[in-house]
Amino acid sequence: MELTLSIIKPDAVSRNLTGQINSLIEKNNIKIVAQKMIRLSIDDAKTFYGVHKERAFFEDLCSYMISGPIVVQVLKGKSVVSKYRDLMGATNPENAEENTIRKLYGLSVEENSVHGSDSKENSKVEIDFFFSKREIFNL
Ligand code: CMP
Repeated sequence: MELTLSIIKPDAVSRNLTGQINSLIEKNNIKIVAQKMIRLSIDDAKTFYGVHKERAFFEDLCSYMISGPIVVQVLKGKSVVSKYRDLMGATNPENAEENTIRKLYGLSVEENSVHGSDSKENSKVEIDFFFSKREIFNL
């Protein structure tokens, strides 16, 4: 069993889509083992997305990510890092497969509704960024 970090982004939380996204996660046999609604500070957004700091979209991305509350989650399942990336679909919703979260709900390459860790190594770093051990349940 593997863990991954998921974020339901401001565009999806503000459109009342948290439950529909959670339903897709659960229907795909992935367990939500930690979850909370938070609002990022600008410093946290810049740290979390630090890998993108040289990209042209970095400042816009950080502004968007602090524009409203987000839901951060720890997901658990077999090969869940790649399984959740498949369920999310391509970064740009226009390129995403049918029935993926981003195809169903994404608005643009930036407002793409969800984030998921891109590797097992990064999942550990990203989970530790948001959650303490006692917030993650052994479901
Ligand atoms: P995410 O999976 O959270 O990882 C980085 C985020 O940057 C990505 O989803 C998008 O929200 C955003 N992003 C990636 N590429 C672009 C782009 N070309 N223009 C604007 N935002 C982008």
